[in-house]
Amino acid sequence: MSSAKPARSVPKLRLGPLTRADTADALCLWGDYETVRYTNWTYTPNLDEAAERMDRVLGRYGKEPRHFGPFVVRLTNGWFVGLMGAELCPETERDYEVWYILRREAWGMGIGHVALGELMRHLRDSGRVRKAVATTVTANVASWTILERHGFVRERVIHGGHKVHGEGLGLFVYGQVIEVPCGHATAHFLGGITQRNPFTDTAAVPESA
Ligand SMILES: CC(C)(COP(=O)(O)OP(=O)(O)OC[C@H]1O[C@@H](n2cnc3c(N)ncnc32)[C@H](O)[C@@H]1OP(=O)(O)O)[C@@H](O)C(=O)NCCC(=O)NCCS
Repeated sequence: MSSAKPARSVPKLRLGPLTRADTADALCLWGDYETVRYTNWTYTPNLDEAAERMDRVLGRYGKEPRHFGPFVVRLTNGWFVGLMGAELCPETERDYEVWYILRREAWGMGIGHVALGELMRHLRDSGRVRKAVATTVTANVASWTILERHGFVRERVIHGGHKVHGEGLGLFVYGQVIEVPCGHATAHFLGGITQRNPFTDTAAVPESA
């Protein structure tokens, strides 16, 4: 008998802008402790608090047009899956922290992987992201698995770094350079063609030769 995993159909998702109309759906994330446990979201079990939270989130994103999202993630049949986005990191111009939170019923079906792929496509296509970063609780295997599958590299560990729910859990810090600084890209591009040496004005041999 073969031990190969059975093939899984790839979920089809759409990312749209988050609005107040998504509040009741968002409650199934924020009102489930297991879902928020490894995130920075506060556990919010009732609709009034969720509505206030939604206003704060929309207000904060509304003030900074360079953030990506917040996106509401749905299957193409409209079923609410979760939220995601990427925030400009403080004191940087082009570094973004990606985040995602999916409802519990959606876990373990490959949806997180596909959703992160969509978000990364937005970041890349924008042409304005130098680096994407992410932090994940060390015990959150699903989260760091999807990050690594999308090319994120583990850079360091912050022991006891996740204090949000009073647990003091370890964090992995991940990063991925999206856009190589201009000089490097040019050097790489020019590597394939003959360059002029500006000091001698003779043809310089490309490094790779
Ligand atoms: C993290 C999250 C987005 C992952 O989404 P998901 O749809 O469950 O992830 P996927 O199904 O695409 O992939 C997860 C992978 O990790 C693997 N995985 C999960 N738990 C695992 C474990 N304990 N040990 C080994 N592998 C594990 C899964 O098997 C899967 O790999 P596979 O595709 O080979 O089967 C989702 O669980 C979530 O939203 N959690 C709550 C919020 C959260 O933690 N957000 C991240 C904060 S950093």
